[in-house]
Amino acid sequence: MTFPQTVHITDVGPRDGLQNESTPIAAADKLALIDHLLQAGVQHFEATSFVSPKWVPQMADAAEVMQGLQSPQRQAALRDVCVSVLTPNMKGLEGALARGAQEVVVFGAASEAFSQRNINCDIATSIERFAPVVEAAHAAGVATRGAISCAVGCPYEGDIAPSQVGHVAALMRDIGVQRIAVADTIGVGTPRAVQAAMAAALQHYDLSSVAGHFHDTYGQALANTLACLEMGIARFETSIAGLGGCPYAKGATGNVATEDVVYMLHGMGIETGLDLDRLVDAAWFISGRLNRQPNSRVSVARRRR
Ligand code: HMG
Ligand code: MG
Repeated sequence: MTFPQTVHITDVGPRDGLQNESTPIAAADKLALIDHLLQAGVQHFEATSFVSPKWVPQMADAAEVMQGLQSPQRQAALRDVCVSVLTPNMKGLEGALARGAQEVVVFGAASEAFSQRNINCDIATSIERFAPVVEAAHAAGVATRGAISCAVGCPYEGDIAPSQVGHVAALMRDIGVQRIAVADTIGVGTPRAVQAAMAAALQHYDLSSVAGHFHDTYGQALANTLACLEMGIARFETSIAGLGGCPYAKGATGNVATEDVVYMLHGMGIETGLDLDRLVDAAWFISGRLNRQPNSRVSVARRRR
């Protein structure tokens, strides 16, 4: 069995991590978290979402966060770093382009019910709305990624067939989305189910263009990551301190912690370019703001050492 030698980590903490928190987090603290992530060597992160503030009030400060990234010190730290944001429609894209995003994420779902709850339209309509977003992003020189939520299970529909993942991957490919993420939004997947969902996505995208995005509700996310590594998948979306969750996915808890994935990868001799000790610092920083300890076995173990 050969594993990838290098893995690309996208930290989704400032976005997925903070979009579901009831404790208000100031834009200045979100920016301080991003500073910590940059110090840890993060090369790719999701900064925020340009979504309706009525739907996700936690991301209402998207413009302010993006503006904060324009300071000269941060611009220097952001050289060679990809800043991603979520954009469900043209209004979101306009905000993202005006604020210097380098990658935009359109977010669809393998489940009709979840698509309705999360973005208020069915899958076919979501693709119609994403098409001009993708076209305009590329025209502006901005990269695109598509998230396929509920790729193994849905809070409303239960188990999701791999063919549904393949169907949405094909639709995303047809509108030109450059990369996709196969997401276990509610963290119910186990390794074989995740491999089947991945295999369906890989019918339509190259190995190098597919990422795994695993929430850890049932404690399966590291096992699912390993199962994807076995397939040669070398891109993962993880969240500092194990933060995360989607307000429209009832019962879903945090993403797998970046620190935990990095600890596993480094232990396997797989490079990430990230500094584990500094990730742990970042995790304790943001967890302090949330008045709790990190939802990461590694961050807790490191502080006890
Ligand atoms: P809608 O109500 O159908 O939209 O929502 P609309 O076009 O009818 O507009 C309604 C209002 O929203 C209008 O304002 C628009 O201007 C405004 P009003 O006239 O009432 O004052 N609006 C916007 N405002 C700011 N930015 C925008 C925007 N668009 C419309 N881009 C919509 C449709 C998609 C907007 C809404 O459902 C929405 O914002 N949903 C976002 C849900 C969300 O962010 N979920 C979490 C992210 S996905 C996720 O976490 C999963 C992921 O991590 C992978 C995984 O784990 O599965 C990616
Ligand atoms: Mg997520």
